[in-house]
Amino acid sequence: MKLTILFGGASFEHEISIVSAITLKEKLAGFDLKFVFCDSDHTFYLIEPAKMKAVTFSKGAYKKMPLLTLAQGSFVQKSMFSKIQHNNIVLNLIHGADGEDGTIAALFDFYSVKYIGPRVDACIFSYDKRYTKYLCEAIGVKYVKYEIIHKNEHCNITIPYPFIVKPASLGSSIGVSVVKDESELDYALDVAFEFDDTLIVEPFLEGVKEYNLAGYYANGTMHYSIVEEPKKEEFLDFEKKYMDFSRSEQVLQADVSEELTLRLKTNFEKVYQGLFEGALIRCDFFVFNNEVLLNEINPIPGSMANYLFEDFTASLEELASSLPHSKRP
Ligand code: DAL
Ligand code: MG
Repeated sequence: MKLTILFGGASFEHEISIVSAITLKEKLAGFDLKFVFCDSDHTFYLIEPAKMKAVTFSKGAYKKMPLLTLAQGSFVQKSMFSKIQHNNIVLNLIHGADGEDGTIAALFDFYSVKYIGPRVDACIFSYDKRYTKYLCEAIGVKYVKYEIIHKNEHCNITIPYPFIVKPASLGSSIGVSVVKDESELDYALDVAFEFDDTLIVEPFLEGVKEYNLAGYYANGTMHYSIVEEPKKEEFLDFEKKYMDFSRSEQVLQADVSEELTLRLKTNFEKVYQGLFEGALIRCDFFVFNNEVLLNEINPIPGSMANYLFEDFTASLEELASSLPHSKRP
């Protein structure tokens, strides 16, 4: 299969997208792969697959790593979308703004490019966590209660301490804090407002269990894979999520009961159906007081959650063979 992997982007998750692309290169060795890197100034570069090298990370050094290699790619015109060959499918691997907010999806649609990834409407309901809550309300999926704070407005939080403060539309735990008491509040707000003008406040759910369900719909069937997040002290911050490489092994050892699997699947299906076709997504659920609550939808999960699928190559081929028709004429 011919696949063009588009990665990078201008969001705060730029580096994570690079890690995702390098991971998939190794996973999809049997594919005819092209890599297009979107730099943070929205310049596109065609990258030789040989230059997409796995890099040994050292804590805190990830920002410096693959860009040096990637910059050696040849310049591709911004109008590349109109030039992607007809039989080439693009995998949108740009996390965060650009990739998950609907911008790139709109460009793909505009140029009639076939792509794996969330469509514009799916992006809208997953990128901003407020809209995810509106979606949950509409389709009957439970979610964590929340309050909204806007920049430069009086901040009146009624949720008792400890609570979580997070930017409304960012992933990968960037800008997220657990606030234990009033002395920690101003700092948490300052950090989160660095990334977004709208923040979400949610209660910190002591003893919550987190389950990640990745899946996609192809040729009439939903495919799923579920894992339980390993027990954590507070919550998984950026370092723990992306710099701790023992994690994927830990999550794979998880054991989820049949009854819970069914409840998670039912919720996943409600979210996915009619909105996320064409994408492989990961929904992060909480189980608290025996209730299943949707925490967030990741329509372009890190490394496409490939580690959750026994045969990820086959999964991607299946997804590619079952892409939705463009909603444009
Ligand atoms: N937003 C990152 C990539 C994830 O949740 O997988
Ligand atoms: Mg996320």
